[in-house]
Amino acid sequence: MSLHLSAQKGEIASTVLMPGDPLRAEFIANHYLDQPKKHNYIRNTWGYTGFYKGEKISIQSSGMGMPSMCIYANELIQEYKVTKIIRMGSCGALQPQINMKDIIIAQAASTDSAIPSQYFGNHTVALTPYFQLLQKAVQTVKRANIPHHVGNILTSDLFYYQNPDYWKRWQTTHLAIEMETAALYLMAMQHRIQALSLLTVSDHFITQEKLSAKERQISVSKMIETCLTLATCQ
Ligand code: HPA
Repeated sequence: MSLHLSAQKGEIASTVLMPGDPLRAEFIANHYLDQPKKHNYIRNTWGYTGFYKGEKISIQSSGMGMPSMCIYANELIQEYKVTKIIRMGSCGALQPQINMKDIIIAQAASTDSAIPSQYFGNHTVALTPYFQLLQKAVQTVKRANIPHHVGNILTSDLFYYQNPDYWKRWQTTHLAIEMETAALYLMAMQHRIQALSLLTVSDHFITQEKLSAKERQISVSKMIETCLTLATCQ
């Protein structure tokens, strides 16, 4: 048991899929895993472990935002010796060639959060995923004919901005905005574990489209299956 995770030592697999939403974690565990066992109840940030194609896999919700992701990634890595974390999240698209429900594979994450400055001062740091996971993800979505884009994303501290045009400054150089990936990549790089973030486009800054809660649930199935394939590959 750690401060925010109630699983016993050894109960969590070395590979963890991390959706933000506890309900998504529950859905994946119940629909895709054999013998799912719920082992985190603290703050309703649910976590499960079960088997996918015979491989032990855990699903742990990260909550929203960089501080929350930092807490869970840290405890998974330090207390439970997790070595591979794959985030499955949603994002808002910034560029016109990106369509709703497309998958974004985060090749790098910039952030407007101050968290990396605690590690690196004022310097700019490239927060990146584990290359072989990135490569495997691209191969997997290509093979499955899933519309996707690979590139830079922004992990933002805010969902609602004081300046409604704030997103425009990121548009030329970033594919999408979400709220957790930079924290995951920072933790993974610091502790030298494998990480990758896959995001489904749930809203669009240019067209103002938004997926309904129901559409979100259905459209993420491709991303879930891709993440499970990645979780089980060596
Ligand atoms: N901003 C931040 N996080 C998000 C968004 C967004 O537009 N869409 C999904 N997650």
